[in-house]
Amino acid sequence: MDPNTSGLVQKLAEAGQSHLLQFWKELSTKEQQELFQDLQGMDFLEINKFFKSAMETSSSTKHEKMDGRMEPVPREVLGSVTRDRESLKDWEAKGLDCIGQSKVAVLLLAGGQGTRLGFSHPKGMYDVGLPSHKTLFQIQAERILKLQQLAKQKTTVNCCVPWYIMTSGRTMESTKNFFSEHKYFGLDKDNVIFFQQGMLPAMDYNGKIILESQGKLSMAPDGNGGLYRALGNQGILDDMQRRGVKFIHVYCVDNILVKVADPTFIGFCVQKGADCGAKVVEKTNPTEAVGVVCKVDGRYQVVEYSEITLATAEKRSSDGRLMFSAGNVANHFFSFSFLRDVVQEYEPQLQHHVAQKKIPFVDVQGHIITPEKPNGIKMEKFVFDIFQFAKTFVVYEVLREDEFSPLKNADAQDGKDTPTTARHALMSLHHRWVLNAGGHFIDENGRRVPAIPSLKDGTDLPIKCEISPLVSYAGEGLEKLVKGRELQATLMIDEHGVHELVKNGV
Ligand code: UTP
Repeated sequence: MDPNTSGLVQKLAEAGQSHLLQFWKELSTKEQQELFQDLQGMDFLEINKFFKSAMETSSSTKHEKMDGRMEPVPREVLGSVTRDRESLKDWEAKGLDCIGQSKVAVLLLAGGQGTRLGFSHPKGMYDVGLPSHKTLFQIQAERILKLQQLAKQKTTVNCCVPWYIMTSGRTMESTKNFFSEHKYFGLDKDNVIFFQQGMLPAMDYNGKIILESQGKLSMAPDGNGGLYRALGNQGILDDMQRRGVKFIHVYCVDNILVKVADPTFIGFCVQKGADCGAKVVEKTNPTEAVGVVCKVDGRYQVVEYSEITLATAEKRSSDGRLMFSAGNVANHFFSFSFLRDVVQEYEPQLQHHVAQKKIPFVDVQGHIITPEKPNGIKMEKFVFDIFQFAKTFVVYEVLREDEFSPLKNADAQDGKDTPTTARHALMSLHHRWVLNAGGHFIDENGRRVPAIPSLKDGTDLPIKCEISPLVSYAGEGLEKLVKGRELQATLMIDEHGVHELVKNGV
């Protein structure tokens, strides 16, 4: 472990990164070992190349607006839960068939750091405070279990939906332990496959890797688009091939409403012969900072709000909707062959995006400094960067209130995308499921609660109602449990029955 004799000193000098050993003599043997190992495993010339091209792309496109090059998603590639009601049953049946034949896998992007939420464990372990206190991981696992049952009912054979979970160096151990402690939430352990995305160092504006302490580099996952490289180098594509997976649903860990392996979305994409599909929610407010799916120079991509002018963001179609309304929610369909081509052929063409960040660093005296303004960059690829390579791209529009409520931030008054908003979104969806199935809610005095809650008391708190995914995947199968019944919140419906927690003094 001598940096001189091992060639490390020379390797660093060639890459202009010699400063990484500046505190070598002050480190303990253990720290030296760790740093040595970290540095030995890195390809500095490649990292320098990433830095150079990411910075060049970012400065050449910084002030460029996309407006003149953009076209909205044409109606013929768009499926919509509100505008194509007559097709939904067919799409769902098709999707369930594919699931029933074990052709569908789900792939969870869970390698993020969850910095904004400020939770010290992987985000999937978060409990947003539902009556059941289920974590995001458990909710998603149970949706997969239910879907396997629904597909079995249709096809009468056992099927399996493998669940690929992408973690990062920082979240792998704790994620795996959590699943093991909870017995994979009832899933077959062999069908839950963990893999690890890559990490990249944070760099200062001169391309020098930042040290976060004397013996440690500042490292971060390489973005959710790090998926494609990891799929190749972790043997995941091979695993999919071995299992006969043909279609893959990719989604983010933090959306509490996510319809994992949504059969209707999958059926739509398969029927359209798509190699790549994006689920979107309608952007209704022109200034909402959400990326929109559209065509740019004839190819599909996501255009960020900052890349268009307000005039374009405000443009409307003849039906009154925003012209660029396909809000990206990082929820995608890929055919296996497309994913394989991306991994084997296109991935190296993807550029890293640059995020300017305040990155804690160690100064020459060895003190750790937390900067007040951005002092460097993190480099990330995005999962949607590959739309441009699709030959048959489709877009599927769903209702935000039914399918999208991400957990990004810690609770704060009037906060956006917080544990409270996620909890409310789920309970309000489940409240609507009960009403649709013919159930009624009554208050503590036995009076019927109006279906549309009144806001006159100044609160818009949802009725506390939670339905286990083991009972219903998307609102189906509830009539036999609630039809014609008067129910009091807090209501929980799970595999053991219907529970009115307050009435029963819980
Ligand atoms: P975000 O970009 O919202 O990041 O990730 P985050 O880690 O959840 O939160 P912040 O920005 O640090 O506060 C969107 C999705 O992409 C995944 C996340 O786990 C989340 O599901 N992701 C993000 C990765 O899998 N890898 C990454 O490198 C980054």
